[in-house]
Amino acid sequence: MKSDLNMAGAQLKVEKGLRTRSEQKEKEERTERIAMAAQLMAMAQDHARMEQHLKEADEVLERKWSDKMTEQKKLYDMRGNELGESHQTIAGLEGEIQALKQALNDHENGVLVSKNQTQELSQLKGEIIAAREKLKFEEERFRSVEKKYEQTVKELEAEIEQAEAERRRLHNIIQDLRGNVRVFARIRPFLPEDNCGDDPQPCVVQKFDKEIKLRLGKDEPWQHNFAFDSVFPPSSGQDVLFREASEFIQSAMDGYNVCLFSYGQTGSGKTHTMTGSGTGQMRGIIPRSIEEVGKTKAKLEREGWQYEMQVSYLEIYNEKIRDLLRDGKFDEVKHEVKVNKDGKRYVSNITMKKIDPNDMDVVESVIRQASMCRSVASTGMNSVSSRSHAIFTLHLTAIHPEKGEALRGQLNLVDLAGSERLSRSNASGDRARETVSINKSLSALTDVFAAIGRKGGHIPYRNSKLTYLLQPCLGGEGKTLMVVNLSPTDASSQESLCSLRFASHVNKCELGKAKRSIQEYAEEGDDDTKSVSSAATSSMKGGPSRRESVSSSATSSMERGPSRRENVTSSIPNPKRKVSSVSQPRKTPSSHRRTTSTATATTLKTRVSPRKNAPRRIDDDGRSVESNISSISVLSRDSRSTVSTIGSCSVSRSPTKRKPLQKLGTNNTLPSRNFATEKR
Ligand SMILES: Nc1ncnc2c1ncn2[C@@H]1O[C@H](COP(=O)(O)OP(=O)(O)O)[C@@H](O)[C@H]1O
Ligand SMILES: [Mg+2]
Repeated sequence: MKSDLNMAGAQLKVEKGLRTRSEQKEKEERTERIAMAAQLMAMAQDHARMEQHLKEADEVLERKWSDKMTEQKKLYDMRGNELGESHQTIAGLEGEIQALKQALNDHENGVLVSKNQTQELSQLKGEIIAAREKLKFEEERFRSVEKKYEQTVKELEAEIEQAEAERRRLHNIIQDLRGNVRVFARIRPFLPEDNCGDDPQPCVVQKFDKEIKLRLGKDEPWQHNFAFDSVFPPSSGQDVLFREASEFIQSAMDGYNVCLFSYGQTGSGKTHTMTGSGTGQMRGIIPRSIEEVGKTKAKLEREGWQYEMQVSYLEIYNEKIRDLLRDGKFDEVKHEVKVNKDGKRYVSNITMKKIDPNDMDVVESVIRQASMCRSVASTGMNSVSSRSHAIFTLHLTAIHPEKGEALRGQLNLVDLAGSERLSRSNASGDRARETVSINKSLSALTDVFAAIGRKGGHIPYRNSKLTYLLQPCLGGEGKTLMVVNLSPTDASSQESLCSLRFASHVNKCELGKAKRSIQEYAEEGDDDTKSVSSAATSSMKGGPSRRESVSSSATSSMERGPSRRENVTSSIPNPKRKVSSVSQPRKTPSSHRRTTSTATATTLKTRVSPRKNAPRRIDDDGRSVESNISSISVLSRDSRSTVSTIGSCSVSRSPTKRKPLQKLGTNNTLPSRNFATEKR
């Protein structure tokens, strides 16, 4: 009886589980359908607008063209008439010549030529000569007009070519100057639940290519203008946004710490941008990034690299960290952000899942598990709103046994909590406390960007878990991309303005950033960067920390320290890509690991030398700043070790390996300033 009851209970549990899963799947599909329909609608509107513009442009062009044609035709007709007249004159004169020749012949054939006739003849000959001259003159005039036209056409063509070359040159300069903090703004389409009627007018629209304008109400003027690195209108799909963001993903493969944030108020499209829905067109940055990493991995493996990848997924909720890849329903374990002996940041007791980026089933199951675990609660603004910051991290390690190089990259994809202010969400009690806590870490993020933007002084990374964990990406060592999501509704215009102002703050961080953050290590150095340097130093002196296999796929306690290979990859306090050597030439992967684990680490120090004759530009404060830095010298206290630099990418070599260094990967864009400004 009891066992029957147990069995029935178990069956009930299984059924309940199945029901929950099918409900979630149904919900996901509904969301995907809504998103797809909204984007299609926006595309149709765009299309109609573009068609109208095209029609108008066509009409104007047609008018201009027909005017020009009429004018040209008139000119040609005139020239044609002149030519016709000339031909007629020639024909007449030729006829006269013939007649005269005939007359002359007759004359010569024996008729007496009178004195008068001779005079007449010579007069006629004179007329013929004059007519011929006139004809020649007309022909020459016609030819010179023709030449002039040809010359004008050639000049115009050359001008067009020159303009195109200049455009390409400027484009390349802009590409060079694009820095390591970039900001994209994305406007979502209207959704049925916005209840904005049949022909809603957005309060925020794309203006030109990279600008955005906003008004605070339907009848208000377009008062606020912002410029960003990229602007995505409602009709831009997930693929379009990802194409722009993919170079950041590539950077993680090249050994950078990369961080992509999705920012905005609840309902503005943060989760849509980061995770998306389904496995098709509507999938977001996370699944697309892994796909991209999979493709690059396959390519680099053909070049001799060996990659290992692990993912972690956590959320920060009310300043508490929760593991989203945990096994149980509740996260019983306490997680803290810690710094290990190598100066590397990690979260204690977090699940690290080894993944093959080409196995999309595993990737999907990771995303599904995390989204089920994500903390959600109701507020007055949105029936189900995400109240936590979700951080998906892809940890990459790679070695190249032949080259004797190892690198480590990290890709953090962050779906931030809603940025709305407390008063709007009608939250109270626990919800109010929660909102304060969420806004606290968001304002800590703002403070960090503001401090970086001020170029110097203390940067308050420690004020929130979010900023402390992501410090390596934010502090000039890594690359940051902020996607600011905006809702088009009038009701959201105030929040959208706040989001756009925050985004401007972020963009301002780039002023002289590369130079400043590198010098921090060499000369000034704020508290936080010092702590990283010293942590790295002490660990290097102390040798590798405790052993742990990188390839372990199950839950691994990060508190125990990173893998042995991580210890060997020396944490050079270099603001650029970390690429470091392993100490033995050409080994099998396993023997390589054994060898690297015993390598003696070296205390390193960085110094930046500005490139000779480097182009200078003027910053917002009117100061002249270096637009580029050609080399970062890494000096070793251990004289046996040599360290070389190539451009912005530093590579250290052990004394046993002396072969020329090669630059790895493709992405070593130098950080520089951006241009986001709010113009009134
Ligand atoms: N660019 C977009 N195209 C189509 N639908 C979108 C877009 N951005 C957001 N949505 C839809 O809007 C709704 C809210 O988006 P969501 O990402 O959940 O907002 P947030 O995470 O900021 O609260 C979802 O139904 C989502 O599918
Ligand atoms: Mg969300």
